[in-house]
Amino acid sequence: MASSTTADALAAVPFYDLDPANAPLKAAIVAEFEELVSSGSFTNGPQVAAFEDAFAAYAGAPLCVGLASGLDALRLGLVALGIEPGDEVLVPANTFIATFEAIGQAGAVPVPVDATESDLNVDVALLEAAVSPRTKAIVPVHLYGQLADMREIARIASERGLLVLEDACQAHGATRDGMRAGTGGVAGAFSFYPGKNLGAFGDAGALVSGDADLVERVRRLREHGQREKYVHVEEGFTARLDTVQALVLLHKLPLLDSWNDQRAAVAAVYEERLQGVGNLKLPPVPEGSRPVWHLYVVRSQQRHALATHLRERGIGTGLHYPQPPHLSAAYASLGYSAGAFPVTERAANEVLSLPLFPGMTEAQVEAVCSAVKGFFAGER
Ligand SMILES: Cc1ncc(COP(=O)(O)O)c(C=O)c1O
Repeated sequence: MASSTTADALAAVPFYDLDPANAPLKAAIVAEFEELVSSGSFTNGPQVAAFEDAFAAYAGAPLCVGLASGLDALRLGLVALGIEPGDEVLVPANTFIATFEAIGQAGAVPVPVDATESDLNVDVALLEAAVSPRTKAIVPVHLYGQLADMREIARIASERGLLVLEDACQAHGATRDGMRAGTGGVAGAFSFYPGKNLGAFGDAGALVSGDADLVERVRRLREHGQREKYVHVEEGFTARLDTVQALVLLHKLPLLDSWNDQRAAVAAVYEERLQGVGNLKLPPVPEGSRPVWHLYVVRSQQRHALATHLRERGIGTGLHYPQPPHLSAAYASLGYSAGAFPVTERAANEVLSLPLFPGMTEAQVEAVCSAVKGFFAGER
């Protein structure tokens, strides 16, 4: 964690600040960007393959294919796995809506499964009961940077003959029970949206896998289904990783572990300073789990009043997420109503994300802790 100056101590605390991580890299990235503009290799430039190799090594996977977003990684991954209209895919009810979108856009039906209080990821005890003769796959999500119980998910999938595509969009580098995010199933999808633990300067994503046929098919799908130029063997998409984003990601990847460590250091201070404060619930970390703290999500029945109290003191917060996908208008056609997934719905009403980002100063962390404590001590 960065040490503080007096000016920092008085400064506001944004919910998220990209600048401390980006600023030191700016000159080198801009210089390379100038070269890229001269070269004109805006798509399929050499940086794309270089990043794919580097990210596969980071994730601990044999292969990686760069894509235009995390949603594309999930969607093209499902299509390439042979998911078809009429298939059902199990998905945590407690997730960002993109996980549902990928399943729907692959033509399948998302079948939500409630979360467990023990990590707010999918409740593995409910998974088996949700399997039907039409179930083809499970898309577990590692929400907030903490792996779901992949050991149990892998066991259920293998007993039931289901494919597992991990939504690791929030979990670059996280581990649990010796498994690394993105490598516990047939493939793992990552997002490099700017605010992610590894973020591009725009939208970007990747799929990692050990299945060479799957990766080959995703490579075709990302570029109009072509095997070679103008030989289109199936209907595809425009979903390539841009060269410019690959260039940015190549600069950032070597710093990812140190950024994850900085996130963990902030989380450790929150854990120590906010334990037992009011009715605040801190994020649980199951035995054997090493989260990468994409978000630090506390829970309180007074979360709106707490957010207002923090905002009045110049401290930003976030809500991840205020409405579960099954209750959104976008998925009304699935036919679920309030009460269908009680753990998820309770969380949606209580969660509040505190500021956490690489380069956050000690004074900023302290300002958040004392404002939270002040709220529960009745300071108004
Ligand atoms: C859990 C989860 N799944 C999928 C996505 C989709 O990623 P992207 O925004 O890059 O399409 C995101 C990121 O927004 C996410 O947080």
